[in-house]
Amino acid sequence: MGRVNIEASLACADFRNLSADISQLVEAGIDYLHIDIMDGNFVPNFALNFDIMLLARALCAIPMDCHLMVADPERYVERAISSGAEFVSIHFEATHHAQRILQLIRDAGGRPGIALNPSTPLTVLEYILDDVDLITVMTVNPGFAGQKLVPAMLRKIANVRDLLRSKGRTDIEIQVDGNVSFQHIPAMLSAGATMLVCGTSSIFDKRYDIRRATEAVRELVQGKESRI
Ligand code: DX5
Ligand code: ZN
Repeated sequence: MGRVNIEASLACADFRNLSADISQLVEAGIDYLHIDIMDGNFVPNFALNFDIMLLARALCAIPMDCHLMVADPERYVERAISSGAEFVSIHFEATHHAQRILQLIRDAGGRPGIALNPSTPLTVLEYILDDVDLITVMTVNPGFAGQKLVPAMLRKIANVRDLLRSKGRTDIEIQVDGNVSFQHIPAMLSAGATMLVCGTSSIFDKRYDIRRATEAVRELVQGKESRI
């Protein structure tokens, strides 16, 4: 298995003391900050915005991955990148023109990602593999933290891995987003996940300290039994 990135879903941080949480994420060696942007339209909720990305960038140098859960995402590509995003992911379901927007992200200097809701089949990936650096398997329906894994998604992760292997594109990252818990991480990794979006199910589980919880995720990535 190649390198697995551990991401912290910033929307799950404690905003009463964001800078303290970010310091802990830096100390924990988090690979990416995952920035959920929700528009109250594509998903029935609101979440982070570009000002928060700029704030996070002012507080730390952790690379950022911007997950646009918005309708007509082309409107926000430039701002996501100018606000510090390395990866910018759009939802296949949020536009009629996914390929064009993925190209727009690439042309603007970002790394394009395509996110698929649980019910979206993998056939939609067939002609856009050259346009993406990242595929996000939504393991819950997007919009809310704290949901339960949709069980069929473990099979979907493995199907993405098999598709990428069959096309010789194992360089494309497979991100999992939603209920990435200590319980589910081993099966997600076995199925081929390479980027773990860790939210309230692990790194931001209030029962644990961020650094200790991140260490426990890392132990699972390294194939060890977690001691959390
Ligand atoms: C989906 C979000 C959440 C987030 C929270 O829209 O991106 O899944 O990561 O993580 P959990 O599911 O662990 O609360
Ligand atoms: Zn997300």
